[in-house]
Amino acid sequence: MCGIVGYIGSQGAYDILIQGLKRLEYRGYDSAGVALVDTDGCLNVHKAHGKVANLESVAAMGNTNGTIGISHTRWATHGEPTDTNAHPHVSQTGEIALVHNGTIENYAVLKKALTDHGYTFRSETDTEVLVQLIQYIKDTTKCSLFEAVREALLQVEGAYAIAVIEKGDPDTLIAARKASPLVIGVGENETFIASDATPIIGYTDRVIYLKDNEIAVIKRGEPLSIMSLDSNEPSKIDIQKLKLSLAQLEKGGYDTFMLKEIFEQPATLRDCLRGRITDDGARVVLSGVELNKDKFLECERITLVACGTSWHAALIGKRLIQDFCRVPVEVEYASEFRYGNPVLGPKDVVISISQSGETADTLAAIQIAKEKGAFVYGVCNVVGASIPRNTDAGTYIHVGPEIGVASTKAFTGQVTVLTLLALALGQLRGVIDAEKVREVATALKAIPATIEETLKCDAEVQTLSRIFTYAHNFLYLGRGYNYPTALEGALKLKEISYIHAEGYPAAEMKHGPIALIDHEMPSVIIAPSDSLYDKIISNVQQVKSRGGAVVAIVSKGNTAMNDIADYCIEIPSVPECLTPLVASIPLQLLAYYIAVNKGKDVDQPRNLAKSVTVE
Ligand code: F6R
Repeated sequence: MCGIVGYIGSQGAYDILIQGLKRLEYRGYDSAGVALVDTDGCLNVHKAHGKVANLESVAAMGNTNGTIGISHTRWATHGEPTDTNAHPHVSQTGEIALVHNGTIENYAVLKKALTDHGYTFRSETDTEVLVQLIQYIKDTTKCSLFEAVREALLQVEGAYAIAVIEKGDPDTLIAARKASPLVIGVGENETFIASDATPIIGYTDRVIYLKDNEIAVIKRGEPLSIMSLDSNEPSKIDIQKLKLSLAQLEKGGYDTFMLKEIFEQPATLRDCLRGRITDDGARVVLSGVELNKDKFLECERITLVACGTSWHAALIGKRLIQDFCRVPVEVEYASEFRYGNPVLGPKDVVISISQSGETADTLAAIQIAKEKGAFVYGVCNVVGASIPRNTDAGTYIHVGPEIGVASTKAFTGQVTVLTLLALALGQLRGVIDAEKVREVATALKAIPATIEETLKCDAEVQTLSRIFTYAHNFLYLGRGYNYPTALEGALKLKEISYIHAEGYPAAEMKHGPIALIDHEMPSVIIAPSDSLYDKIISNVQQVKSRGGAVVAIVSKGNTAMNDIADYCIEIPSVPECLTPLVASIPLQLLAYYIAVNKGKDVDQPRNLAKSVTVE
């Protein structure tokens, strides 16, 4: 949520900042801004509502010189997405500029105090309060910018990643974080800061992940200094090597990142599975499980916590772990779990699932689980993000950067890792027989090829999408393993085409939602040939007899549905527990093409952001 980029070095900062913001636009794109200090010490600020491209047009008319600068792309939390509310915010005297990702919870109290001291505010944001507070401290105590930032942050409650520069000082950039991510890129005579590593790639592969409550002072020509905000003690500087490449951040010939990410699932799942199943398919090896065997052997209950698409993956994970490991499993929305006073203890394992590894509610849920003594395991995509750094152990899904805001390859990566985890735990606890492990693990190893095969439905789904482009509502129905697939299919459609869609367990439909069905309400029914196939056939009949159009996702060669459903999309046959991985592919494509037909911006749908770092 919101993206920050900062630069100090020998190159022109503006182009680096703009290019960096474009890579971070997935985090928010309702307004953007940049502040630079030129060699004469002048502070120049340019801001615009809308996307970074708008900012470029505005900035082109002004001074963009300077080798130091900060910039921001916003996802509004306090105040509408206007030019005035866009970051950077500048203090009343025009001396200090600041960009911020997060929320200042006590901003109202601070604002009142500053107003009493004669400060006036231009914007409706919480961020402006922070920059004014820094100015106030600096003016009243005559301290340095660093001291003023540090003192101000000690008075602030909430979450922040910030970057600050000052008029008259083209040599100092200050950055700090608490509960919002910030990465420092260490180049040759140049330093970058950013909300994630993507703006830094191509300049340097040496990065430092700033920790909570740390403040960095980056001075031209001097060694980087990082301190703890609380103690003012120097922190150990831990430089890590980035493994991302520029090619992973580009569209690779596709029209959109989302389409690229849908089509790269065979490759990403190969990466996700690499080295995790023995060659003979007889064993699953996850180091996070191997190194913590006692925790998984002792545990009496597993709770999965996540948000959004990751929560849908968690629902599938519940079925997998229950089936293969026979341990009681619960699934919770992280946002509910954190305020639900959960009953947890040392015999609990909490598994957090998150693509970004930065989701505020999931991070808070982890914190609570740890405080209550549970063992916390993370399933995450972004290497080095806050969630993997705050869990006791975990498994990365390794599907590469997901840039389209609607999650696709991360979902299939999460389900794949949860399948591996369920098998590994079943083996460890001795509740799954070797034959079953071999059957599922062998089919899972083949899943990249199976998905390649599934993607051949692309043209058919595109044609089908035209029939439904102007529907106002959709129902997605599934049972068992595919009830979560139905939820995920509905979420994809809502997010990018803005069509209302509901996912429902197919058999529950008759307890209420069936009242909605008429000829204007199409249903997408996930009906592979599994143990519930006969049951779902009668659910399809119930929809058809009320005049609703039915699109059925069926297993290849099963023609029985042809006479009942209006349209059938065939998917390859796989073991029942793997059907969500395959069935989700046509659902991703259907949502994608409907949104494209409607002319929507699929990579950056309205009101959304990729990484939800606020409550
Ligand atoms: C949907 C989507 C969101 C995320 C949710 C959790 O396409 O992307 O629903 O799944 O915001 O994000 P992570 O997985 O980063 O914790």
